[in-house]
Amino acid sequence: MRVTGTGHASMRIDTAAGSIVCDPWVNPAYFASWFPFPDNSQLDWATLGQCDYLYVSHLHRDHFDAKHLRDHISKDATVLLPEFPTSEMEDELRELGFTKFLKAPNEQVVELPGGLKIMIQALTSPTDGPIGDSSLWVEYDGVRLLNQNDARPTDLTVFAELGHVHAHLLQFSGAIWYPMVYELPQAAKTAFGKQKRERQFDRTWRYIDDLKADHVFPIAGPPCFLDDELFQFNDIFGDEGNIFPDQSVFLSEYAKVGGTNGIVLLPGSVAEVTTEGATTTHPVPVEEFFANKRAHLEEMRERKRPIIEAEKASWRHPEVDVLGEMKRRIEPLLDESIYLAKGVGGPVRFDLVGYDGESVESIVVDFPGKEVRPYADEKVRYRFRTERALIEHLLHIGEVDWVNSLFLSCRFSAARIGQYNEFVYAFFKCLSEERLQYAEGWYDEHERAVDAEDITLDGWVVQRRCPHLKADLSRFGIVEGDQLTCQLHGWKFDMSSGRCLTSVGHKIRAHRADADTPAPAGEAVS
Ligand code: FES
Repeated sequence: MRVTGTGHASMRIDTAAGSIVCDPWVNPAYFASWFPFPDNSQLDWATLGQCDYLYVSHLHRDHFDAKHLRDHISKDATVLLPEFPTSEMEDELRELGFTKFLKAPNEQVVELPGGLKIMIQALTSPTDGPIGDSSLWVEYDGVRLLNQNDARPTDLTVFAELGHVHAHLLQFSGAIWYPMVYELPQAAKTAFGKQKRERQFDRTWRYIDDLKADHVFPIAGPPCFLDDELFQFNDIFGDEGNIFPDQSVFLSEYAKVGGTNGIVLLPGSVAEVTTEGATTTHPVPVEEFFANKRAHLEEMRERKRPIIEAEKASWRHPEVDVLGEMKRRIEPLLDESIYLAKGVGGPVRFDLVGYDGESVESIVVDFPGKEVRPYADEKVRYRFRTERALIEHLLHIGEVDWVNSLFLSCRFSAARIGQYNEFVYAFFKCLSEERLQYAEGWYDEHERAVDAEDITLDGWVVQRRCPHLKADLSRFGIVEGDQLTCQLHGWKFDMSSGRCLTSVGHKIRAHRADADTPAPAGEAVS
């Protein structure tokens, strides 16, 4: 089995029974904030795009690049489609000209002509990607590969049960706006960033240890930031709180925990994977490339400047009545929302900075009051500050997922009272009837689910499944004193009170193993 690195989470898998192109991403994403790192725009996409199968793991724009899919990927390719709850991915691909679809039943091995076998695991909670993320398992001639990309399954058992895996490709770096955009003192930001960076690595080690593949390929990040306004997010300034460590940092951190089987793929690197081993060739020596990372980024920044400028010029739509449009689009969804509105539990304020860079219009999405209105000098749960032009653009194009556009762009700042609130972001990624209904239904089921099984961890009896997204705490739970950390997303719980220390709600059921009376049962939403 041959794996060609094509940048970020993308790769081309070649076997004698056919080729699969995965997540091809070349054009900038999220308001021209993210670019693939290292640059992959000069690969021979005309040849790479002539493939038998296409797999797109999810709709995040650093995986689903509509322009590139339309222009460079063969429309004869059969799309290997994850079983997602909404038809958005298929609809978008059909619009781009794809006509052949293989809807892979969730977690079932499908045998394709020539003996190529695949299995797709779809993750479908409202917090998994843009309502859906997935991983692809491939087997040919005894060689097995798992392209986990940035999916976060609670465990990898379903893949491990199919036999020993030879190549495990997974995310290790950051892909979020936290903590950089928060209006916090620099020292706090650095401390939170450092914690996040460590947590990302811990989670990666956990997955690697779960699967014990022969070879581990760090993929799906980091992106690079080429706009002058965002260039400081690249991990080239020795900032220990930077959440975007690159593949060479992965190798050195991995070595510290005893990892010796890591393989970095640059765009154009080719790994030949067999049951016996792997040999890899690179377009340039890997160490030399990373030693010159800053020069690479600076050269790329100059080359991509016209693209960024052209994108920026397209964002302003002064004719859009932002308050009126937000009211029209958001109020009907607020009216229908039970769980998300209750989960947010307070007003969320948007401060929109005008074209002059100074004037500010403040709009409140009032979740308890179920209305969108001008800010009325009140306490708010979250406050976001961004350019008015970005919101104009979102309204102009009818964007239904503000996470997959505005928030991932990092072109905003934020402040909040209290803990992280996942419902805020879940709501702003569900600005369509279809998505909102799905998310509400999911929380409804989740809230009703009774999770009665307990385990004993370091002297505590605790519910087996994490109140967040049901990770098995016998594998992901770490106890320090009275505090339990679930390593899947790093959420912390105070076990003596059951309180979640990371996010609103999500109480955990726990009591000391030698205590008589258990604490009250956990709840999903409060
Ligand atoms: S499943 Fe997300 S922190 Fe446990």
